[in-house]
Amino acid sequence: MCGIVGYIGKRDSAPLLLEGLQRLEYRGYDSAGLAIHSSGTGKNAGLRTAKTKGRVRDLQERIPKRFTGTVGIAHTRWATHGAPNDLNAHPHVDAAEKVAVVHNGIIDNAAELRAKLTAEGVELASETDTEVVSHLIGLAQGETLEARVQEALRSVEGTYGIAVLHEEFPDRIVVARNGSPVVLGIGEHEMFVASDVAALVSHTRQIVTLDDGEMATITAGDYRTYTTEGSRTSTSPETVEWAAESYDMGGHDTYMHKEIAEQADAVDRVLRGRIDDRFATVHLGGLNLDPREARTMRRVKILGCGSAYHAGMIGAQLIEELARIPADAEPASEFRYRNPVVDPDTLYIAVSQSGETYDTLAAVQELKRKGARVLGVVNVVGSAIARAADGGLYVHAGPEVCVVSTKCFTNTAVAFALLALHLGRIRDLSVADGRRIIEGLRKLPGQIDEVLGAEPDIEKLAGEYASARSMMFVGRVRGYPVAREASLKLKEVSYIHAEAYPASELKHGPLALIEPAVPTVAILPDDDLLEKNRATLEEIKARSGSILAIAHQNQEKADDTLLVPQNEPELDPILMGIPLQLLAYHTALKLGRDIDKPRNLAKSVTVE
Ligand code: AGP
Repeated sequence: MCGIVGYIGKRDSAPLLLEGLQRLEYRGYDSAGLAIHSSGTGKNAGLRTAKTKGRVRDLQERIPKRFTGTVGIAHTRWATHGAPNDLNAHPHVDAAEKVAVVHNGIIDNAAELRAKLTAEGVELASETDTEVVSHLIGLAQGETLEARVQEALRSVEGTYGIAVLHEEFPDRIVVARNGSPVVLGIGEHEMFVASDVAALVSHTRQIVTLDDGEMATITAGDYRTYTTEGSRTSTSPETVEWAAESYDMGGHDTYMHKEIAEQADAVDRVLRGRIDDRFATVHLGGLNLDPREARTMRRVKILGCGSAYHAGMIGAQLIEELARIPADAEPASEFRYRNPVVDPDTLYIAVSQSGETYDTLAAVQELKRKGARVLGVVNVVGSAIARAADGGLYVHAGPEVCVVSTKCFTNTAVAFALLALHLGRIRDLSVADGRRIIEGLRKLPGQIDEVLGAEPDIEKLAGEYASARSMMFVGRVRGYPVAREASLKLKEVSYIHAEAYPASELKHGPLALIEPAVPTVAILPDDDLLEKNRATLEEIKARSGSILAIAHQNQEKADDTLLVPQNEPELDPILMGIPLQLLAYHTALKLGRDIDKPRNLAKSVTVE
């Protein structure tokens, strides 16, 4: 998944485009480039491009002198077709170098189009799928730039968010969306376009989100939206929920540290205005789920990818425990491939921080195609998954910029606690239990800050684990999703291999991996499985394995214990994962990793 930015107005575009790319680098960061309508003369006139392998800062150094103009587009890449190098960096141009295109998405029929263009004598300069779009626009015969882009897109199959410049139409940028996000930013006599509001919000909070199949023409003082067939659409501007400073690092060295540190405030936000003490339940406006329907549904299936999937595992546990409805979570990434049996009595819930993850969106579209009822538990307001769902709840974690999810994972788990309480109190959960859960929810922010207060101890411990070649994470029932997410955190940010298992599974094979060089992190809440979990520590110790216990009380069998304050048993998993976010962070720091932009990853994977 990549980042695209565009600007047209009265200011010099290159500095604005570079600033926008910096805010989008978490979306992809192996190469970057930009194209402008130059205001120069002679060889500096017309359409000019600069692009490079590497980061935005490398691009900054590659921009030639007198590279000025008030219209431009830019791109930061997460390679899908073609290695990260200068040639494969965007923008891509046509043979005459009059058309420049930046693209986020995947052209499914790129190979066929490349062959066709080559047969027509076009010389392709890169290995990318995107380059075919610039050639198709360059060859199109339409009178207007809009017509040429529409003609080109008629040959294209796949997903795209694109922005197009053409030397013969210097007064406009044409954009199009199909499956990859595109938002317009409305300024004072200037317009912006980007794949994420993060690139716009320091200039304007008035935005227009394009839908799939929609295009737009932006000029210095105006915009208009229409379909790829050309019929006008009316998309009214919305105000961005978060001010620009929410996207800054706020004095922290990394976004990851900032986002871990602000979890108490984030949880405050997801609870705010939703608790109903009178009926010991919660109000979830926008859920769009009638109580009668909530009483009759027979199952809940939760779908998400990565951390969203792990948060869904906690959600399934909470829904079963509080609402007594059979519930399970499944990775969204392969759901559509298994020709799922879609049950009309099942409530499906799609979980996503970005609301743009292609695999999760595709699962939602498959479910809707088969008549299922789908709710969204999403962070980004107005995102594709939020719009595709029949209703849902926003998790209000605020902008999460670090590729590695932390505060949004926690807020999503809390959002599921609210949903489980809501469903439980519609069904058979007692007032007393409802009140018990509400009290536990209210304690979470303070307890989160208490856990974060142990950061110096966790930082010390991280020093011991930074040299591990592999780590095991184990937990039983409620503890297992915590183990799964903690294992992913460590892998993503420190590149140390890690595996998570249900603790009861160890004796069925994974115990063979236990040795002094492979530390185990064990999740031991003070619940009815504590003795079983303690027995697991014995199993590991008997094989000279070292153990870090995450627990409510000191575990003498463990080499180290990180204590976590106790909440209600159903809510304990929410707190027990937080010290392990810090463990992953400090381990990665000691290894000198790129914390906010780990290798090979991107914040939201909007491609298959
Ligand atoms: C989380 O640490 C990862 N970056 C990744 O697993 C992420 O959770 C997954 O790609 C889903 O993203 P989403 O929540 O935006 O849908």
